[in-house]
Amino acid sequence: MSNSRGNGIPITSNRQRINLTSAYRKRIAFILGLLVFYLLWRRPFGLFIREESTKLHASDDASLLLVNDNGTTVERSDCNQTGRYFLGPDFCSDDLSSHPYLLLIIPSRPGNAKDRAAVRETWGLHARKQNVALVFGFGAFGSTNDDLHRELRSEHAFFGDLLQITSITDAYHNQTQLMLAFLDWGAKNCQSAQFIGKADEDTWINIFGVLERLRPLENETNFILGHIITGAVVRRLATEKWALTLQEYPDATYPPFAEGHLYIFPRSSITSVLQASKRLHMHWIDDVFIGGQIPKFLNMSLIHIPEWAQIFDINPKSRDCSGSKYLIIHDVSAVVKRKIYYHPCMRLYRQIVPPELLP
Ligand SMILES: *[C@@H]1O[C@H](CO)[C@@H](O)[C@H](O)[C@H]1NC(C)=O
Ligand SMILES: *[C@@H]1O[C@H](CO)[C@@H](O)[C@H](O)[C@H]1NC(C)=O
Ligand SMILES: *[C@@H]1O[C@H](CO)[C@@H](O)[C@H](O)[C@H]1NC(C)=O
Ligand SMILES: *[C@@H]1O[C@H](CO)[C@@H](O)[C@H](O)[C@H]1NC(C)=O
Ligand SMILES: *[C@@H]1O[C@H](CO)[C@@H](O)[C@H](O)[C@H]1NC(C)=O
Repeated sequence: MSNSRGNGIPITSNRQRINLTSAYRKRIAFILGLLVFYLLWRRPFGLFIREESTKLHASDDASLLLVNDNGTTVERSDCNQTGRYFLGPDFCSDDLSSHPYLLLIIPSRPGNAKDRAAVRETWGLHARKQNVALVFGFGAFGSTNDDLHRELRSEHAFFGDLLQITSITDAYHNQTQLMLAFLDWGAKNCQSAQFIGKADEDTWINIFGVLERLRPLENETNFILGHIITGAVVRRLATEKWALTLQEYPDATYPPFAEGHLYIFPRSSITSVLQASKRLHMHWIDDVFIGGQIPKFLNMSLIHIPEWAQIFDINPKSRDCSGSKYLIIHDVSAVVKRKIYYHPCMRLYRQIVPPELLP
C-alpha cells in the first residue's frame, strides 16, 4: 500500500507537472503573441521604414543640438555642426560614395509631422530606393512649444531627415532665405551628390520620371530643371496670395522661372546660386527668386518638364490612369498621396518606367 501510494504520488505529481508545464507554455505563448501583435500594431510603417533607410543613414544616433528654454542651442561636443542647425541629417557622411545621387529638400513646417510621414511612406519610398535623399527643412520657432521641440527631436532620432536652420525664423515670408540656407547646407554636406533641388510637401513627384530627365544631364553645368512658367504677371493687390510691392519687385512680369513644386540644380551650381542671391534684391517668393531671377542672372539653361498637373484627385475605383504620366502633381494631400500609392494605376506607373529604374 505504502508502495502503491508511494508509486501513486509521484505519478500524480508528474502528471500535474506535465499539465502545469503545458499550461504555462500556452500562457507564455499567448503573452508573447500579444506582445508581438502590439509591437507590430504600434509601428507597422516605422519598422519597415527604419529598415529601408539604413542605407542612407551613417548612424541612427542623429547628431542633435540641445535646445535651451530661450530657444538658443547648446552645442553637444559630438555634434560637428557650426551651431546654425538645431537638427541636421546625418546621411551625407564622410564616405563620399554613400552620398545620394539627388538630394531633394522639402520645406516643411515644424507641426507637419503627418505630411512628412505621408511623403516618406509614398513617393519617398521610391526615392530612397533610387538613392534620392529627402530632407525636410524648417526654421527656428519659439521656445514656448517644448512639446513640439521634443517631438521633433524624437522624429529626427528615428528618421534622421530633419534640417532646422536656427538663424532664420520659421515664417512663410522667410521662405526664400530658408530655401537658400537649405541649399547651402546641401552643397556643404552632400558634396558628392550630383544634383540638389527642392520639392514641395503637398506635391506628388514621379521620381522615376524625374531621374530619367536628370541622367542625361549628369555632365551638364549651369542649368535648372523644373516646370518653367513664362510671362507670369506680377500680382500687386495686397489681398492676393502672391502679391509683391513695387519695392520688392519693380518689373511688371517675372522672368521665366521653374515653378516651386520641384526644381533641381546641378550641385556644382549651388555656390554660384548662393553668390548671386547676395547680388540681387531678395523677396519672399522663392521660386521666382531662386528658380527665375537667379538663373537669369547666371545665364542658366532652363530645362522644362511639361508633365505637370495643378490638381489631381484620384478615384480608387477609376480605371483612368492618365495621372501616371505626370512627373509633378501639385495639391496632393497626405490622404491622396496614400490613395495614389496603393492605386491599381501604380502598376502602369511602374510600366512606363525603364526596368533599370524600378525599385
Ligand atoms: C539662453 O539661455 C542660456 C542658458 O540656459 C544662456 O547661457 C544664454 O545666454 C541665453 N541666451 C539668450 C539669448 O538669452
Ligand atoms: C567637422 O568635421 C570636419 C571633417 O570631418 C572637420 O574638418 C572640422 O574641423 C569639424 N568641425 C568642427 C567644428 O569640429
Ligand atoms: C525672418 O527671419 C528673421 C530672422 O530670424 C526675423 O527677424 C524676421 O522677423 C523673419 N520674418 C518674418 C516675416 O517672420
Ligand atoms: C559623363 O561623363 C562621363 C565621363 O566622361 C561618361 O562616362 C558618362 O557617360 C557621361 N554621362 C553622360 C550622361 O553623358
Ligand atoms: C550672362 O550673359 C551675358 C550676355 O551674354 C553676359 O554679359 C553676362 O556676363 C553673363 N553672366 C554670367 C554670370 O555669366
